Amino acid sequence: MINNLEEYHIHYRDSVKDPEKYWKDYSSKFLWKKEPSDVLNWNFIDPDIKWFKDGELNITENIFERNKEKADDIAIIWEPNEPNEENITYTYNQLFDEVCSFANVLKKLGVEKGDRVIIYLPMIPEAAISMLACARIGAVHSVVFAGFSASSLSDRINDCQAKLVITSDGNFRGNKIIPVKDVVDEAIESTSSIDYVLTIRRTSSTINMKKDRDIWYHEIVNTVDKSCEAEKMKSEDLLFILYTSGSTGKPKGVVHTCAGYMVYTQFTFENVFQYKDGDTYWCTADVGWITGHSYIVYGPLLRGAKTIMFEGLPTYPNASRFWEIIDKHKVNQFYTAPTAIRALQSFGDKFLEGYNLSSLKVIGSVGEPINEEAWNWYYENIGKKKCPIVDTWWQTETGGIMISPLPNIIKCKPTYATLPLPGIQPILLDNDGIEIKENNVEGNLCIKYPWPSILRTTYGDHKRCKETYFSTFKGYYFTGDGAKRDDEGMYRILGRVDDVINVSGHRIGTAEVEDAINQYKEVVESAVVGFPHEIKGQGIFGFVIVKDKSKDIDYFNKIREMVTKHIGPIAKPDKILVVPGLPKTRSGKIMRRILRKIAANEFDNFGDISTLLNPEVVDQIITAHKN
Ligand code: WTA
Repeated sequence: MINNLEEYHIHYRDSVKDPEKYWKDYSSKFLWKKEPSDVLNWNFIDPDIKWFKDGELNITENIFERNKEKADDIAIIWEPNEPNEENITYTYNQLFDEVCSFANVLKKLGVEKGDRVIIYLPMIPEAAISMLACARIGAVHSVVFAGFSASSLSDRINDCQAKLVITSDGNFRGNKIIPVKDVVDEAIESTSSIDYVLTIRRTSSTINMKKDRDIWYHEIVNTVDKSCEAEKMKSEDLLFILYTSGSTGKPKGVVHTCAGYMVYTQFTFENVFQYKDGDTYWCTADVGWITGHSYIVYGPLLRGAKTIMFEGLPTYPNASRFWEIIDKHKVNQFYTAPTAIRALQSFGDKFLEGYNLSSLKVIGSVGEPINEEAWNWYYENIGKKKCPIVDTWWQTETGGIMISPLPNIIKCKPTYATLPLPGIQPILLDNDGIEIKENNVEGNLCIKYPWPSILRTTYGDHKRCKETYFSTFKGYYFTGDGAKRDDEGMYRILGRVDDVINVSGHRIGTAEVEDAINQYKEVVESAVVGFPHEIKGQGIFGFVIVKDKSKDIDYFNKIREMVTKHIGPIAKPDKILVVPGLPKTRSGKIMRRILRKIAANEFDNFGDISTLLNPEVVDQIITAHKN
């Protein structure tokens, strides 16, 4: 672990001077079935990236067998939706038993090494257990956030040709019960690869169990053994696929492999959170996102940490819930998203009263840029001005945290993710792909050298991986984000420079939303852009051309229903404006830059619009918006 600024500089320098040696040294703390000697092979052109290529391992052995001395320590504290329902805790030993039993259930249902398994679960312990069970037997998990619609779920099942879906009989969310099993049933109707649906009992809702396909977990688990040997995995065998949105088309399956991901998630977890034995760590993300994968499940458990998993919502039963949990479990490291911070801030400080937050040592932020006001509120009211804020910048594709302060080592600066972690070589490029070397500049954020948990491909479509991340700027990994570097060399992330909108820390592709809107039969064409939103960071603004303006239709609600059906509630537009036309270039491309300005209530300085096919439409849209 890096303990002070001098060590940080030494680590950073070594990691750039001889990356292979740096990561080889760090990797020696892991349990290998076969030690790797070939550390790194790479090019960013094809791209082709292999870490620890000739090594063999199993990531779960590095959680359980390697951490033997932690056997009786708590691994997971599960905090349910209802504050008065009891917590469940698992020691490492108990968790190990659960994982092995689950793994044996998967085997019994015919899941083999390399098979894909979809996990569509609420935040119950089985979400983590089933991920680890897949890893134990070498199956590839693909967790789908349980708020996605049936149609999104079936797209993912079809894309990875999954054999099995793991779900529950329902999902408690605040005072609602979400019928996730019904969603799975509907999704499977448009797929052909699924053999079984393994169903976990949580809400005891009445559900339809299809004969020979749907299996109750609590029944089948009684028929299997509690021990399961770890499958021998090659370093570059697939560990998981996680779907994420991009500028174009449907979400793509980001692929992470076994060894590099393991090495980098533990490395970043221990350094960024400065976790010490006995600490209690809590990340509020959902396991449906990369943050949940890397910093609820893999990173903390590899380190032998005590991690909290929370089923509920920050505002249920009221806006004190987070603070109550921190007080109850004496949380030392707390990691959440700016959108949650802003939402809780908006409820007022009275919800903090009576809760003791003095156990906190480090507080973190992830998923979107944190604005200065939210940063200050978090720092003053939650961290009580004594906890550094780790503003961690990273992505599904990067697997782990890339740029972040190290608490009490690298000074914090509001709205800045600050400095790269060892092994990370960021670079700013101008739009022509020329490196901007000076400080106090802005540019496209790229990375020029591989780190162990960089994505390897997009599942089933390597060309798409190349085009999306490695073609805009040849020879570099392009993040899709713009960044500023200040005069001290610190990075501030400015947000996406592509057509991805970041709504409450969730990545949403404009093309996906437009596709969903266009499914509504009254719509001719649509264009979607992000606009500044006080709580969500960005909201979704949809401009639509409809077939017949004179019809008395509630377009706002109809369109939101359509998007909910095709993607899920998180992608519902906040605003819909019916317009007579969309600003297009002569080649037919929608000029989103103009729409973004209008959506942000900026009605001048549009730049050059003379190249538009229909410049008159700009004023018409403004008029429609002002009305
Ligand atoms: C954004 C989430 C500013 C960024 C881990 C990135 C951030 C996208 C930060 C990835 C941060 C993430 N400051 N922006 N600290 N962290 N982002 O794949 O635009 O869900 O490209 O991964 O979120 O989102 P993803």
